[in-house]
Parts: sequence; structure tokens; C-alpha cells
Amino acid sequence: MVYRITVSYHEKGAFGMNLNIVCIPGDGIGPEIVSEAKKVLDQVADKFGHKISYQDILMGGASIDACGEPLTQEAIATAKAADAVLMGSIGGNTATSPWYQLPPHLRPEAGLLKLRKELNLFANLRPAYLYGELKEACPLRDDIIGSGFDMMIMRELTGGLYFGERSTKEIDGVMTAVDTLTYTEHEIRRIAIKGFEIAMKRRKKVTSVDKANVLDSSRLWRKVVEEVAKDYPEVTLEHMLVDNCAMQLVKDPKQFDVILTENMFGDILSDEASMVTGSIGMLSSASLNDTKFGLYEPSGGSAPDIAGKGIANPIATILSAAMMLRYSFDLDKEADAIEKAVKQVLEEGYRTIDIMPQDEKKRTDVTQIGTAKMGDLIAERI
Ligand code: IPM
Ligand code: MG
Repeated sequence: MVYRITVSYHEKGAFGMNLNIVCIPGDGIGPEIVSEAKKVLDQVADKFGHKISYQDILMGGASIDACGEPLTQEAIATAKAADAVLMGSIGGNTATSPWYQLPPHLRPEAGLLKLRKELNLFANLRPAYLYGELKEACPLRDDIIGSGFDMMIMRELTGGLYFGERSTKEIDGVMTAVDTLTYTEHEIRRIAIKGFEIAMKRRKKVTSVDKANVLDSSRLWRKVVEEVAKDYPEVTLEHMLVDNCAMQLVKDPKQFDVILTENMFGDILSDEASMVTGSIGMLSSASLNDTKFGLYEPSGGSAPDIAGKGIANPIATILSAAMMLRYSFDLDKEADAIEKAVKQVLEEGYRTIDIMPQDEKKRTDVTQIGTAKMGDLIAERI
């Protein structure tokens, strides 16, 4: 008689990992897209022998409705105790939602900003990558797209205008609003180091974006980035003014590898970069602190106009879950599996409405599907 012993062995998660993930479904399309990411994560756990436990917390409008504030101390404590946080989106229609009648510190976005600050998530990584399959959804001309592009926007996330002092008051009978943009050299240095570290693993080019022809904070930014660059002689550093960068992103996006920039510029440029890749529904993001902890969320917003219709693109959230496996848990093979499954589903011609070809004649070559079906197909291909 022959006895055969089968050992199932996974190189990295050899003994399987227990992952404790806090989810923030949030508002608008958030809950729909987070469920699809969980579907895919569960499939990964199953295939690679890990255990994932989820706990939901409220943030944004959902928390305002239930608790009267956009993020409770209890929710912060729960997030802090997790291994990583997976978020959908928060906020509503700023013109019509009653949440925007509240004072600013009680509005949905205040919850997200508080969480970023409390968890010290100063480094926001937003990859913008054009999938060959999505060329038809890209609004740029073929000669500009060329062989595609692949960039990483490194956005400083806990400083600058977002967290400076602000006020609105009447001065000599005139309503006057003030926002302040402050950066310390430490804040600039730590994000610059992250930017150069990431560049070393990529094509070794950093474009530092600022407005040094006008702003003091940008002149300090430039000086500190240059100091940090000395420790990375293999990396090519260039400086670019933010207005020029906005133009270059549509004129020749191929030139960029890592874009390193402050909070507000990064907010604006990352939306632009995402559209250049075809859709904001494709863009994942990771917000990291100095440890392995991170918050992972799609770069797009809550899209209240399409919420509940089952048509939102869950891919950005699914890819954010892949980033979580890679950056917080070092599960590279598992992250690769998700990224490959996404690519495969796109190759097979499945599209949510936002990534349908711009040219109507080309729409017959692809199949339009909804949110849940997209999640199912990606999970099936893990
Ligand atoms: C983003 C969003 C947020 C930001 C909003 C919701 C506060 O636009 O993550 O890019 O401006 O950072
Ligand atoms: Mg934004």
C-alpha cells in the first residue's frame, strides 16, 4: 500500500496569517464597492490559507446620521487596534445633502481628515496606471498614450492647507476667510524619503511638484527634497511647478515615474492622473504611517449620483485591498493574484459603465456589467 502525504505550503504565509481588518463602508457607493473587495479578499484567504476577520466602523455621513458626528472616539480606537483599514468612500452631494448644512468640523470629510491625522497617515500612495485593455476609455489621443504609462503619486497627507488654521470672520465690515499652509522640514523630509524609496523600486525618477515661484512652503519643500535626494544618487530628481505638471499630465504622462507633492496639489493632480488612466474608478490608494499600518481606499469619491444603482466600478477598491496585502502584510503573491485577476477580467472584455470605450462603435466588442458581477468575476479568477 502506498501512503501519500500531501503538504500544502505557501511560501510567505506558510502557516497562514490571521488578518484583523476594519472596514469603513461609508456613504454613497462605499458600501457596494467594499462588499466586492471583501468578496475578493475572502477568495484570496481561502486559496492561500489565511483567516480574515472584519469589523465595520461608521464614518462620514453614516456616522453623522447614527452618532451625530462624522467619527467617534470609539471608531478611532477600533481602527487603531486593527492590522489595516479598508475604506469605501464618504460624503454626499455638497449642494443638496443636509450633512453640508452642518458646521465644517461636523461634516463627513472631517471624519476622514481626523482619521488620517489620528493614525498619522502622512504618506498617500496613488498609483495611476493605464491598462492596455482600457486604452479605449482613455480620453487622450493614441499618439499621446503610446505604449501606456505607469506613475505613482506620492501625496503628503497630514499637513499643508488641509490642517492649517482657518477662520471666517468679518473684518472692518468685510467677510474674510483665511486658510494657512504650513510645512515643517520634518514633515517634508519623511514624505520625501518615502518617495525616493518607492522610486528605487521603480524607474528611479522623482518629479517633485511645488509652486516655488510663489510660495515659501514650496521653497522649503524644494530645499528639503534636494537634501534627501543626496542619499539616493541613483534616482534622478526634477522639480516641476504645479501648473506645468497639470499640463504635462495630459500632454505627456509617460514622462512621470514618481510624482512627489504636498497635500492639496496631490489631491488635485491625483484626480487628473486617474482620469488620464480612463477612470477614477480604477485608481487605488494606500495611506501609510511609519509602521506597516495603513488605510486603503479608492481614490474616487462617494459618487452619490450613482449610489445604490449597482453600477459603480469596484476595481479601485479591489486593487486597494491588493495594496493592503502588499504593504501591510507583505503578501506579495496574494496581491499579484488580485492584480492578475483584474487584468484577466478586463482582457475578457468585461467593463463597468465608467470604463466603456468612449467611441460608441467600439462598445460592441465589450460586455457591460454591474458592480456585483465585476466582483464575482474577479473573485472567480483568483
Ligand atoms: C481624497 C478626497 C479627500 C481629500 C476629501 C474627501 C476630503 O478628495 O481623498 O482625495 O481631499 O483628501
Ligand atoms: Mg481628492
